Amino acid sequence: MAKNKFSKYAAVFAGLVLLTVLTGCAGQGESRRIIRIAHGQSETHPEHLGLLAFKEYVEEKLGDKYEIQIFPNEILGSAQKAIELTQTGAIDFVVAGTANLETFADVYEIFSMPYLFDSPEIYESVMNDKDYMKNIYESTDEAGFEALTWYNAGTRNFYAKKPIYAPEDLKGQKIRVQQSPASVKMMQAFGAAASPMSFGEVYTAIQQGVIEGAENNELALTNNKHGEVAKYYSYDQHQMVPDMLIGNLKFLEGLTEEERKIFEEAADISTQTEQEKWAEQIEEAKNIAENQMGVEFIEVDVDAFKEKVLPLHEEMLEKNEDIRDFYEYIQEINEKAAED
Ligand code: GCU
Repeated sequence: MAKNKFSKYAAVFAGLVLLTVLTGCAGQGESRRIIRIAHGQSETHPEHLGLLAFKEYVEEKLGDKYEIQIFPNEILGSAQKAIELTQTGAIDFVVAGTANLETFADVYEIFSMPYLFDSPEIYESVMNDKDYMKNIYESTDEAGFEALTWYNAGTRNFYAKKPIYAPEDLKGQKIRVQQSPASVKMMQAFGAAASPMSFGEVYTAIQQGVIEGAENNELALTNNKHGEVAKYYSYDQHQMVPDMLIGNLKFLEGLTEEERKIFEEAADISTQTEQEKWAEQIEEAKNIAENQMGVEFIEVDVDAFKEKVLPLHEEMLEKNEDIRDFYEYIQEINEKAAED
């Protein structure tokens, strides 16, 4: 992870030069089409491991025609930038959190709604429901890209330089959120000052005191090293925001039916791999954060946090009709699970 602006820009610049050089090479006697996938995590992150499984499967089946190159660590730019590259077809795929997709299709706002799913099991079962998710995956077609599958990015919780025991502790605190209007609203409802910025900027912003803290899953502490600069992690469980593997629509539509099937199978395999690694790595991350990085994990009264932001549900539904159907569908599943 780049820790200052200069090295971050240098890394992005190097990535773009690399992309230009590689694009140049592809035409010279190389008959295989190079497929480029960008993401913002490190090479040990479950998503990278999932994408390696994607690459392996596609190349095993279609290796004479395609070669897959994976660009981790925001090397081709922040999520927003990499989505634009995918939109124009400069690259073919990107893994991006749904918060970054809200500005392309407002149905994606649903995932920023706090306390939407009653449990991780409900969240996973909804996300794995392909028939339902199809509507959402295709919602960005007009923008020139489409989602192929999802990756688990866990439950988001607050972490900061000072402990957060109750919602009152957030009052006036500058907390980084993803660049999503709905997440900004959520932070305001919590009484904090939302500070939207890209993921790669968070470490330095906490270190330099530009913000007091952020909110994310436990891997942010270890894989992204935020636990070095923020020592208190509070389990308020406000959101479950998935990541999506999205692909350039023209590229996807240019595949033959058989190829498209292989890419879809590869996407499923990548999700299975990611989920297995996710479960392992989350346990490891808690252990490392607590025992090696000195992070204190705090159990809080979740209902006290929930109370602050629940009125947002109605407010968001009133403003955005596109999320109503999905919202009601999830509520039915929440209610059914509560009866069982
Ligand atoms: C998680 C998620 C990313 C997202 C990041 C963020 O790491 O997997 O897709 O970009 O959080 O908070 O920006």
